[in-house]
Amino acid sequence: MTLTIVGSQLGDEGKGALVDRWGGDADVVVRYQGGDNAGHTVVEGGAEYKLSLVPSGAVRGTVGILGNGCVVNPRTLFTEIDDLRERGLDPDVRVARRAHVIMPYHRVLDGIEEEVKADDDAGDEVGTTGRGIGPTYEDKAGRRGIRVADLLDPDALREKLEYAVPQKRALVEDVYGLDIDDVDDRAEAFDVDALHEEFAAIGERLADEGMTVNCSDYLHRRHAAGDEILFEGAQGTHIDVDHGNYPFVTSSNPTAGGAAVGSGLGVTKVGDGEVVGIVKAYLSRVGEGPLPTELDGDADEEALADEIREKGGEFGTVTGRPRRIGWLDLPMLRHAARVSGFTGVAVNHVDVLAGLDELKVCTGYELDGETLDTVPTTTDRWERCEPVYETLDTWEPFDSAAVAEAGYDALPGAAREYLEFVAAEIDTPVYAVGVGPDREETVELTNPFEE
Ligand code: IMP
Repeated sequence: MTLTIVGSQLGDEGKGALVDRWGGDADVVVRYQGGDNAGHTVVEGGAEYKLSLVPSGAVRGTVGILGNGCVVNPRTLFTEIDDLRERGLDPDVRVARRAHVIMPYHRVLDGIEEEVKADDDAGDEVGTTGRGIGPTYEDKAGRRGIRVADLLDPDALREKLEYAVPQKRALVEDVYGLDIDDVDDRAEAFDVDALHEEFAAIGERLADEGMTVNCSDYLHRRHAAGDEILFEGAQGTHIDVDHGNYPFVTSSNPTAGGAAVGSGLGVTKVGDGEVVGIVKAYLSRVGEGPLPTELDGDADEEALADEIREKGGEFGTVTGRPRRIGWLDLPMLRHAARVSGFTGVAVNHVDVLAGLDELKVCTGYELDGETLDTVPTTTDRWERCEPVYETLDTWEPFDSAAVAEAGYDALPGAAREYLEFVAAEIDTPVYAVGVGPDREETVELTNPFEE
């Protein structure tokens, strides 16, 4: 069967902990979208591993696949693999030959576009991670991308570079009006020979290590053989390029449909499995865009946001940026549950909310005299939404390890009421509750692989 793990909010819901936990029961862990804009920390045997591209299951020895829907920065990939090897692990990572490659010029262009947008004061910069994600997906859709398979064929690689690189130079010089010599990394980033040398060598290494795969074919065979496949979504529903808060989105589809498209395992196979939405018990957002329940209205709210940010460690794994904080927003969760067809949810960071003076949940929005139960389709309308809140009882801090050991009933009563309220509002059962950062600090009600 398959299990697809999806971020229900804006990324950083703590998907890694569940992927890590349930990944132990999987035979293959597949990432189906995004690239090294993701960030997850895996704690295994007391050691901490920070990964942004390698699927987290690889730390445990499970085969990790980067599907065709991913954009792969081979420099990051090899740095992470080499680091894991130095630390005594032997990660088995395969990369789809149909996946697109993040080239150095994509990262440079990501930075330039953000700077240009920031400079014009129109407030339209996205706050990207600067990893070149958007420019790489643009080239994919524009049919001028370089795919992993091209790295294996030096002649094809040269031909593609000779087509793409002059366009990128022209973009920098003629559209952005910059002198290429003033742009960081310019020597290699816009030089066909230098790029060819580096990326053909990367292709050789991928081939030598047998790391490339026909993802669809591979997964189809594993699935037919009865193997358990876990799809590890990165980012979250509300930064999905189709279903998120456009244009403050990433350029891929973190929602569950992306698992089929981004891996080549058929929709009926993916849809026949479980789809678990990962929910943070409050909201965090890195980057720009609306956040109706943001705690930034006055000094008291800002102090509360600071408290939650510190307790929850809400600083970007990839960028280190402090995350914006808000109350849990049910219209966002209803949208997420519908788009991906959640069969269950896991609610994380329930420990972080312990000990607060007040606790609110947004149950709907008021907009232009109407009450909405879901997120409007435009940024402008979402920005103007006034949250409707329900105030719930707070709970005292508890011993996470003891609760994780004893099970759901050991949670404080008010925490259980909170979880049951959320589950009823989105009509989806709670499969797991995160009560601390360690893998063990999860209360499991249902293991989706045993459903
Ligand atoms: P990009 O994916 O780097 O293009 O960034 C686009 C938007 O998605 C920005 O608002 C980023 O902050 C956000 N984003 C990208 N990856 C993540 C993630 O893993 N967690 C949270 N936000 C992310």
